[in-house]
Amino acid sequence: MLIVADRPGLKRALAAREEVALVPTMGNLHDGHLKLVELARGRSACVVVSIFVNPLQFGPSEDLATYPRTLAEDCAKLERAGASVVFAPSETVLYPRPQRVFVEPPPIAGDLCGAFRPGHFRGVATVVLKLFHLVGPRFAVFGKKDYQQLFIIRAMAEQLDVPVEIVAGETLRAADGLALSSRNGYLGPVERAQAPRLYQVLRECAQALTAGTRCADVEQAGRARLESHGWRVDYVAVRSQATLSPPVRGDTALVVLGAAWLGRTRLIDNVEVLIGEDSGL
Ligand code: PAF
Repeated sequence: MLIVADRPGLKRALAAREEVALVPTMGNLHDGHLKLVELARGRSACVVVSIFVNPLQFGPSEDLATYPRTLAEDCAKLERAGASVVFAPSETVLYPRPQRVFVEPPPIAGDLCGAFRPGHFRGVATVVLKLFHLVGPRFAVFGKKDYQQLFIIRAMAEQLDVPVEIVAGETLRAADGLALSSRNGYLGPVERAQAPRLYQVLRECAQALTAGTRCADVEQAGRARLESHGWRVDYVAVRSQATLSPPVRGDTALVVLGAAWLGRTRLIDNVEVLIGEDSGL
């Protein structure tokens, strides 16, 4: 496995490669990331994993400074997982001059997480497009835990004609259901014991939808249940899988998404659900 930190190094590492699969990450890798690497290996013999904590996607009061940076451990895990190249650029390599040009993501980027993290998806889309240009992957793998991110990157790749196939990886969960996330490391023991409730509540919401409960009632009940256990809820929302907008009559493939705080840690998760055509929305 090659570890490269600059553009010429990346170019050399990829010179003889025909088809590349890219797994973009911010490091502090867990088994969920390694599962994405496995998925990438199923698509291409050459798997590039990028590790870069992207300042453009953090708000001024967010955790950019404290986000865990664990490059040596990450590289050891990636070596075992069979990655071919780790691209771990510094901020000056990726942004040699102050970034003045950004990807304008679709309007849905201002909704859900975007309503609470202004500019977040603009920063994500911009760095991901840069990585696509630098690596030139045939495939790029993203986790479904970041459902809105995946949706926006798909839209960007499609509408900006980026010749890459976006591959979605299922969310990997701890035995108690908590979605694996680098930010789980911020949770204290009491919070960690409470954390699986987000997934439980979203699953209950999905069950209520299949039983015919109206979306607005499902969202309200989900929020109330989390709040009653001490969570500060950003949103519990039922959306169409196809548009990420509120479902309209005839939408049968839905997703329940949630974002909520336990103390100082913000967790997100989602559950996909299929409902009957005649279910009340
Ligand atoms: O999901 C992440 O880790 C980041 O948002 C990504 C896609 C690597 C862009 O910085």
